[in-house]
Amino acid sequence: MRTQFCGLIDESMIGQTVTLCGWVNTNRVQSHTVFTDVRDHEGVAQIVVDSDMGELFQTAKDLSLESCLQVTGTVRARQAVNDKIRTGKVEVLASKIDVLNKAEPLPFHLHENPGEDIRLTYRYLDLRSPEMQRKMRTRTKLVSALRQWLDARDFQDIETPILTKATPEGARDFLVPARMHAGEFYALPQSPQLFKQILMMAGFDRYYQIARCFRDEALRADRQLEFTQLDMEFAWVTERDVQDTVENMIRDVFRDVAGVELAAEFPRMTYAEAMRRYGSDKPDLRIELELTDVADVVKDSAFPVFASAANDPDGRVAALCIPGGAALSRKQIDEYAAHAAKYGAKGLAYVKLDEAGAVNSPIAKFFDDASFKALLEMAGVHKGDIAFFGAGDYKTVSDFMGALRLKAGKDFNLVQEGWKPLWITDFPMFEWDEEAGRHVALHHPFTAPAVDSIDDLRANAKTAVSRGYDMVLNGNEIGGGSIRIHNSQMQSAVFELLGIGAEEAEAKFGFLLDALKYGAPPHGGIAFGIDRIAALMAGSESIRDVIAFPKTTGAQCLMTGAPSPIPDAQLAEVHIQVREAKAKD
Ligand code: AMO
Ligand code: AMP
Repeated sequence: MRTQFCGLIDESMIGQTVTLCGWVNTNRVQSHTVFTDVRDHEGVAQIVVDSDMGELFQTAKDLSLESCLQVTGTVRARQAVNDKIRTGKVEVLASKIDVLNKAEPLPFHLHENPGEDIRLTYRYLDLRSPEMQRKMRTRTKLVSALRQWLDARDFQDIETPILTKATPEGARDFLVPARMHAGEFYALPQSPQLFKQILMMAGFDRYYQIARCFRDEALRADRQLEFTQLDMEFAWVTERDVQDTVENMIRDVFRDVAGVELAAEFPRMTYAEAMRRYGSDKPDLRIELELTDVADVVKDSAFPVFASAANDPDGRVAALCIPGGAALSRKQIDEYAAHAAKYGAKGLAYVKLDEAGAVNSPIAKFFDDASFKALLEMAGVHKGDIAFFGAGDYKTVSDFMGALRLKAGKDFNLVQEGWKPLWITDFPMFEWDEEAGRHVALHHPFTAPAVDSIDDLRANAKTAVSRGYDMVLNGNEIGGGSIRIHNSQMQSAVFELLGIGAEEAEAKFGFLLDALKYGAPPHGGIAFGIDRIAALMAGSESIRDVIAFPKTTGAQCLMTGAPSPIPDAQLAEVHIQVREAKAKD
């Protein structure tokens, strides 16, 4: 239908007759001329129709935005050159315009941002915008570069089932009723974890898959119900083998796709150090602010909240000093406290030291002069600064102080330009789940503990460290993996420590426990979040921008209206009866 792409016509074509296809991007009607920008995925071309062209002039005048056109005409030099666009030196004097499909008045204009709900309802219009085309193209390039990299190194791309048995990764499962087995269900995979491990036991050595994963969890800017992993597994490896290989891959792919040169060697940090210094297991190293522990100088203070946390082995009292922060108003300080509260803070103490050296602090009254001075010194507070203080259990304090660190970094323009990757290692093996009253796996239950024996693990479950690792980039967890358990007894012992009894383990994971008995090689791997990497490369705040048809934070597809009710007859076929349907608002 076309001889050229709109966005690619240039001076070399002057004098030639071309046929272009595209959408009406803009239409400027003047008394003697109509200028129409026609757009395709490559860009826009200016079409010109003069008033002496009879019927064609009327056609051009009547064009509605986003109508589909086929235009034939002659390329000529433009009088008013537009340096901002690639085709700005030329235009096409139209001799024929076919309106292939006239567009009705639009729900929104492509050049405006009407809010995400409208954009997602009319996603086909939203995706037509050059900005969304660019973002989706970045994703395509990323996936293509990853495949090329892995194919060249003999990784085998193997598909694993979507209708399967639950693979726990810490989220809720999506279930699919089995028509042929009344009352039974398939689960959609939270990841291909168990299948990729079984593939190593099946002799495949190195596997990858661009795999869709399904997790019924709360949605956020970096989380979707279904998302895409680059899933990888290697046989006969240690953690360094896996890490070095994928670090090279990520470096190469960032160079090829985004023109970004990442560090020649990614720094490594233990989980404990990351929590201590940054209050996060995915620290954004572009922000230099760090937390300081001040328990030593507050453990004898008269403020019971501080003293008790400081004297509790599972407690923490941490400070975050913001240079120049004394300028914060009372209202702004309250906003920081509200932000901390979202992450579990019960209160947020602060000390302001103004340029004249005057102190403003609700906790000064609990200290004598010498210990208050020691506190300021330990927290690194100088004239003109503010320090926030958090006290409570170690994890909660780290979480909310870490969140404050990020907020302060943004508010005070302390986020440096550039790319800061790092590895986080030595995660705790287990986390105590207060609600469930039992240990849960910090990574997943198939991650190997860094211990010599089952007895050692049992004796030190609380402090045991796993052989898991995450790759973090600019404060985003872009990948996570581990060396796996390859021994059936160790796997059973870990299930037991997680409160999964022998019977339940057999019912849920019997196939894995069996497979581990027949010559399972040492193995390990990692999975990267493709959506997160694509969003970072495309400069997007949300992964929704690099997913063609994402769900809203309310877990709906506004374009198709999913999820939606199903007629009773169809439900009966799959042996389902809905107990209570809630009216949709
Ligand atoms: P994990 O659960 O850490 O590990 O997931 C790996 C990576 O997938 C991305 N990711 C997500 N992206 C978008 N939306 C989500 N809801 C979401 N959840 C996770 C993150 C994360 O780093 N089977 C293991 C991997 C392994 O051990 O090899 C796993 O799935 O970028
Ligand atoms: P109060 O004497 O209870 O008003 O508390 C004095 C200050 O300590 C207030 O600014 C509170 O916000 C703050 N505070 C209370 N609990 C905590 C906590 N767990 N961590 C940090 N600051 C707190």
